Amino acid sequence: MIIYDRFASAYQRGPYLRFSQNLVESVLPDYLNEIGVKPSKLLDMACGEGSLAVGMAKLGYQVTGIDQSHKMIDLAKERANQADVDVTFLVEDMRSLHFNGEFRLVTCFFDSLNYLLTIRDLQDAFNGAYRALQPSGFFIFDMNTIYGLSVDWMREETYIQNEAQDFIEIHRQSYDYENQIATMDVTIFMEHGACWERIDETHRERGYPIADIQFLLNETGFMIAGMYGSLKNRTDVQTTSPRVWFTAHKPG
Ligand SMILES: C[S@@+](CC[C@H](N)C(=O)[O-])C[C@H]1O[C@@H](n2cnc3c(N)ncnc32)[C@H](O)[C@@H]1O
Repeated sequence: MIIYDRFASAYQRGPYLRFSQNLVESVLPDYLNEIGVKPSKLLDMACGEGSLAVGMAKLGYQVTGIDQSHKMIDLAKERANQADVDVTFLVEDMRSLHFNGEFRLVTCFFDSLNYLLTIRDLQDAFNGAYRALQPSGFFIFDMNTIYGLSVDWMREETYIQNEAQDFIEIHRQSYDYENQIATMDVTIFMEHGACWERIDETHRERGYPIADIQFLLNETGFMIAGMYGSLKNRTDVQTTSPRVWFTAHKPG
């Protein structure tokens, strides 16, 4: 079973959507304007349930969203229908993208690249993004840092992430220092009529040294056009930044 297939319905109920909604509403348009990207063809890698893809389509972008979870893609299609916008959603693995020179912009947000647990997988995703871009295109993404996963995530070992009358989502976290992998065991109880369904999923995210990410981007052929601790405020990355934002540029 692919992660996020069972978790998808809880994802929609949790605080998670705020991340991409906030990006579309108050961060990305300004930033894209600043680097000279006008509404054009956009590929959102690991698009999840489509909040960002649909938001960007409303701003005039021609959006394709891919995700490996069928369930997330079903939810994304529903979201696009409800918003009455045209977005192409495909079930695809970001390690083996098939696009060639079609897009002005490729995005990948909210930890998605941390789900790739080997350097080889990360390199494959970067290569796919590079191939998908037109010359002069931009690849913008964020990743949790090693600090973010090993310190910020570990402040509480077990906690209730979300709770309602008919729903409870519990997280348990641990960190493997040797492999720099954070494990989050998610348990959800959801009421359906007279029964409660229990859902268990294990999520693993790997943190990579920032220098390794830079090296991989350069190896792929990208120039690094920006690196920030906060994309909104364009602040520098600090040793205690929980997240890093990259803008990579494919030479023209
Ligand atoms: C935290 S969610 C982020 C979703 C979306 N980008 C957002 O901002 O809401 C991580 C997403 O990465 C997807 N994902 C993880 N590994 C993937 C892979 N190898 N290829 C495609 N999608 C993947 C998951 O299915 C999930 O939808």
